[in-house]
Amino acid sequence: MRKYEYRGVIFDLDGVLTDTAHYHYLAWKKLAESVGASFDEAFNEQLKGVDRMGSLNLILAASGKDFSATDKLTLADEKNLHYQSLIAQLSPADLLPGAAESLQQIRAAGLKTALASVSKNAQAVIERLGIAEQFDVVVDAAKIKNSKPDPEIFLTAAAGLGLTADECFGVEDSIAGIRAIKAARMFALGIGSPAVLTEADVVIAGLHHFSLQDYLK
Ligand code: BG6
Ligand code: MG
Repeated sequence: MRKYEYRGVIFDLDGVLTDTAHYHYLAWKKLAESVGASFDEAFNEQLKGVDRMGSLNLILAASGKDFSATDKLTLADEKNLHYQSLIAQLSPADLLPGAAESLQQIRAAGLKTALASVSKNAQAVIERLGIAEQFDVVVDAAKIKNSKPDPEIFLTAAAGLGLTADECFGVEDSIAGIRAIKAARMFALGIGSPAVLTEADVVIAGLHHFSLQDYLK
């Protein structure tokens, strides 16, 4: 039994609340193919939760070719324009099963909620999903210096909620994100496969399996 009760929950966005992780995957795959880098689902797992330039650098390193700083900015813009075209029609119907219910469950229990996404598109995505009002605090790329797996984004979110790290838990679908939560010394709830998210405290297949009571003992 834990000696404290949680007072806040900090959510990742892409791949947790909506399936935008798949759109990031499609956009990175197209870019990787255009520069001759091999790209598959396993490689993509290393990109999840990593910011745009960090992801691009990993792909370009895999291509074995050199790119100038200007080339990199052009490629990052191309990927982002493709990604933005894929998410243009997002609506509340694109919330993953259990996402809206989990947020409601948490808020009805009197806990606070924060979003911790390194995506510069995060605000636009939560607005299209109709959940922007469900977060007390939104921390995105504009508010942090260090991408996941650095704990900064989760610590900034907890501070924004007025809570300590051990009063919060984090919800994440990426390896980098789970590392960031653990580096922030928070309980990490993984969304996906236990075989991939080996450092998470608990892994569930999706938020349709989320039950706040399980984490408040
Ligand atoms: C993260 C995704 O949430 O945001 C990554 O897991 C993505 O795949 C990163 O690269 C940055 O997103 P954006 O929208 O700023 O390019
Ligand atoms: Mg994610």
